[in-house]
Amino acid sequence: MGKGFVISKAVGIVLIVVGAAAVATIIALSVVYSQEKSKNNEVKPTTTTTTSAAPTTAASNEPWDQWRLPQTLSPQSYNVTLWPRLQPDETGLYIFTGMSSVIFKCVEETDLILIHSNKLNISETVLTAHGSNPAPSIDSIMMYTKTQYMAIHLKGKLTAGESYELYTKFVGELADDLGGFYRSEYEENGVKKVVATTQMQATDARKAFPCFDEPAMKAVFHITLLHDRGTVALSNGAVKDKVNITEDGALLTKTTFEPTEVMSTYLLAFIVSDFDYIEQIDEKLQIRIYARQEAIKAGQGEYALNVTGPILRFFEDYYRVPYPLPKSDQIALPDFNAGAMENWGLITYRETALLYDNEISSNANKERIVTVIAHELAHQWFGNLVTIRWWNDLWLNEGFASYVEYLGADEAESKWNIKDLIVLNDVHRVFAIDALASSHPLSSKEEDIQRPEQISEVFDTISYSKGASVLRMLSDFLTETVFTQGLQTYLDHFKFDNTVYTDLWVHLQAAVDKTTHDLPKTVQEIMDRWVLQMGFPVVTINTATGQITQEHFLLDPTTKPDTHQSLTMSGLYQLDGQRQEQKNPQNGYYRKLIKKMTGKQMQMSGFWPTSMSQDTTGLTMIMKTGNAYLVFSRHPQSIPVINRAQIIDDAFNLAKAGHIETTLALRTTLFLSEETEYMPWESALDNLDYFYLMFDRTELYSPMQAYLGKQVKPLFEHFTDLTGWTDVPLGHTDQYNQVNALRVACSTGLKNCTDLVNGWFQQWMNNPDVNPIKANLRSVAYCSAIAAGGEEEWNFAWEMFQKTNVATEKDKLRAAMACATQPWILNRYLSYTLNATLIRKQDATSTIISIASNVVGQSLAWDFVRANWEYIFNQYGGGSFSFSNLVNGVTK
Ligand SMILES: *[C@@H]1O[C@H](CO)[C@@H](O)[C@H](O)[C@H]1NC(C)=O
Ligand SMILES: *[C@@H]1O[C@H](CO)[C@@H](O)[C@H](O)[C@H]1NC(C)=O
Ligand SMILES: *[C@@H]1O[C@H](CO)[C@@H](O)[C@H](O)[C@H]1NC(C)=O
Ligand SMILES: *[C@@H]1O[C@H](CO)[C@@H](O)[C@H](O)[C@H]1NC(C)=O
Ligand SMILES: *[C@@H]1O[C@H](CO)[C@@H](O)[C@H](O)[C@H]1NC(C)=O
Ligand SMILES: *[C@@H]1O[C@H](CO)[C@@H](O)[C@H](O)[C@H]1NC(C)=O
Ligand SMILES: [Zn+2]
Repeated sequence: MGKGFVISKAVGIVLIVVGAAAVATIIALSVVYSQEKSKNNEVKPTTTTTTSAAPTTAASNEPWDQWRLPQTLSPQSYNVTLWPRLQPDETGLYIFTGMSSVIFKCVEETDLILIHSNKLNISETVLTAHGSNPAPSIDSIMMYTKTQYMAIHLKGKLTAGESYELYTKFVGELADDLGGFYRSEYEENGVKKVVATTQMQATDARKAFPCFDEPAMKAVFHITLLHDRGTVALSNGAVKDKVNITEDGALLTKTTFEPTEVMSTYLLAFIVSDFDYIEQIDEKLQIRIYARQEAIKAGQGEYALNVTGPILRFFEDYYRVPYPLPKSDQIALPDFNAGAMENWGLITYRETALLYDNEISSNANKERIVTVIAHELAHQWFGNLVTIRWWNDLWLNEGFASYVEYLGADEAESKWNIKDLIVLNDVHRVFAIDALASSHPLSSKEEDIQRPEQISEVFDTISYSKGASVLRMLSDFLTETVFTQGLQTYLDHFKFDNTVYTDLWVHLQAAVDKTTHDLPKTVQEIMDRWVLQMGFPVVTINTATGQITQEHFLLDPTTKPDTHQSLTMSGLYQLDGQRQEQKNPQNGYYRKLIKKMTGKQMQMSGFWPTSMSQDTTGLTMIMKTGNAYLVFSRHPQSIPVINRAQIIDDAFNLAKAGHIETTLALRTTLFLSEETEYMPWESALDNLDYFYLMFDRTELYSPMQAYLGKQVKPLFEHFTDLTGWTDVPLGHTDQYNQVNALRVACSTGLKNCTDLVNGWFQQWMNNPDVNPIKANLRSVAYCSAIAAGGEEEWNFAWEMFQKTNVATEKDKLRAAMACATQPWILNRYLSYTLNATLIRKQDATSTIISIASNVVGQSLAWDFVRANWEYIFNQYGGGSFSFSNLVNGVTK
């Protein structure tokens, strides 16, 4: 789209109501698209005491009733040895045993050692002093299960300035609960296999060994793993030594790892498996991709290996800090709760986020893999080398990685224009959530985020997507050069240390001050408005008087947000940092904008595209009536693609909030019959989905189907001509839109489409060994055929689901089986989600959500979740993402 394209890559909207009232409205989350370029004198042990459970007491001010550790002790280094058992014991329990020593410094005199420990049975505790004075003896040891502490009460005091060593020996369960040190199971060549693996973030390192489990309690970790001979042990550091030993009659290998850098506990990882790997030595740096042997043999790790090196080099350059470790391992696990985890030097992934099969996986799978890899690699510096002090600043960590993942992925797949997609994937997505009265500001107070479940809650769309959106805006208005300069000094200054988010503002400000860049306010002043307040404003401009007013944009204007978190009205948001008094818009940004909008050009039919391509603010406009709207519908192709997508999304948001008529929003979809680009289509389909769910049982359903069918037909024909449904379009987003064409044409009942797709599926059923359906089109084809079919089609899909060895293919079938239209089939499928042999725990909630998003399944899923609430809550209530997603998904 040439020059206009770059400038228009923006979100934000100007709604001009042309006519008597002459009032214009702007939703001003001005996320302007960035222009990318660019041991010692040990004293004899004191005591060994058995531990006992502490009485449950009412809340008190005792340190063990507090959720945060006292600042009396500071860990320096740990020596942790763990032995996970990959076979169950006589009672059928999977366990791990371990011992751990932590050397800590006493900062402030105390007679209490408080250290995190959760679900560990501790059998030995020894305290020694490293100084000349002996350690005080242990009085009692109490386990506080609620606050997850082991409290060691001493008979005397620890001396400030002295170092001590606390040794513990313990047993824990290697449960299949996806948290802490846990087990994952799978079958290979008919043999059941068990992997011992970890997920520490946010508060589960304490489930693997007793530790000071807070991100600012950084230390050096010496890790040793004992494991069955023939299995592979991995951890954050490189292998230092490997010897065969015999322990308790078991033939084992003892793998010792190089000590880690100074790091946080939540970034630790320990894995024992019989996985295989592929590797690449990239300028001395060893890059390895680990997965199940079958997956590696089938080449599924190759894509990840191909893109990792270039992305790492990109970030080294972007941060101006070399990759801080000697190796980078990435491993795909059959059971994994989140998408991936950035453990330092040993990144863990869900299989679908790392493994790619050339024949079977789609381009959407590929995009997910490259963006997740880029996200996790970005954290190796931003998050791991420099770490937030406490979880209330998580948005900075996750928002940042969610922004730069697009930059890293763009490096690996430069032809995809992937940076555009942040608009759909993050900006539009978070608009819908941040416009609710129940939203919350990016920043939370440290004291409000205390308990593990409160910490879990911070991992939400606001932290990820709004965080990404505002940081992208910041990078854009500072310019990327200034942004990266500030970032570079920030990383260098705080390496191996912890920060609060305003530390980044300080470094960005310093970078600004070194330039002649004209910033009317400080970085902090500008960003406070986006960080400390929830939501975003809608700005109304009276084009006759020039008067500007703004209010909190709420999808439901009758709701009242929490007052202490809501916007205060006047002058709080500026697109460019210029203070804009409500009644005094002279010389301000909006003033200039109004001039532009009300200027002579306004009358010209050619105004829009021209104006937009000159408007570096990236605002787009919707005209309610008159010429301007005609411009839009007559020459939609002259409006840049992203703006076409935005106009639709903004119009629907304004309509939902009652700022404009719904018919006007719907009118923005009129031009789809001439549209072949992905972004506008996707934006429209996302918004129309809402109508589908709302109108499915009303008389509007059928006219809507007919209308959408009419709009999509030319697109279907376009791709029929272009590809004959056997070729793959060249462009990445064209491939996505080919899928949209097929999906919408089939779901609106276009016979040529349903015939085509059902034919493919029948062909496959007739010869299950040869799947004739193109990888990109499989999700849609499966869904369509299963929706049209009955038990036979569903059972076939189930059989293929169980048989396939490719995780991305499993996911496609799993989602498609939720497209069935017979309630009994859906109910049976729902019941499968309670049985981990049928549907893995990691997939249970997303399967229920898929069923809930099927019009037929909506009420079934709702009934099912309520009927099984207790069980589901116990199983999934603890995980960071899955439970809130579930509630969200089934109530949508
Ligand atoms: C760690 O502990 C093991 C035994 O518990 C000991 O042999 C080893 O020397 C210790 N290593 C360090 C670095 O303290
Ligand atoms: C820990 O101790 C409790 C109570 O004695 C017991 O029920 C549990 O099985 C033990 N856990 C392990 C992993 O041994
Ligand atoms: C340990 O034992 C395994 C299998 O018994 C053998 O393959 C391996 O070479 C041994 N390793 C060492 C370091 O002796
Ligand atoms: C990985 O890179 C090699 C060499 O460029 C290429 O031949 C291969 O097709 C790539 N694999 C994938 C899955 O992209
Ligand atoms: C359906 O396909 C047939 C044969 O390819 C073609 O002639 C016809 O025009 C198509 N109809 C529609 C509605 O696309
Ligand atoms: C789960 O499914 C498996 C396989 O069908 C079955 O053998 C097992 O009994 C089921 N478990 C439960 C608790 O229903
Ligand atoms: Zn992240």
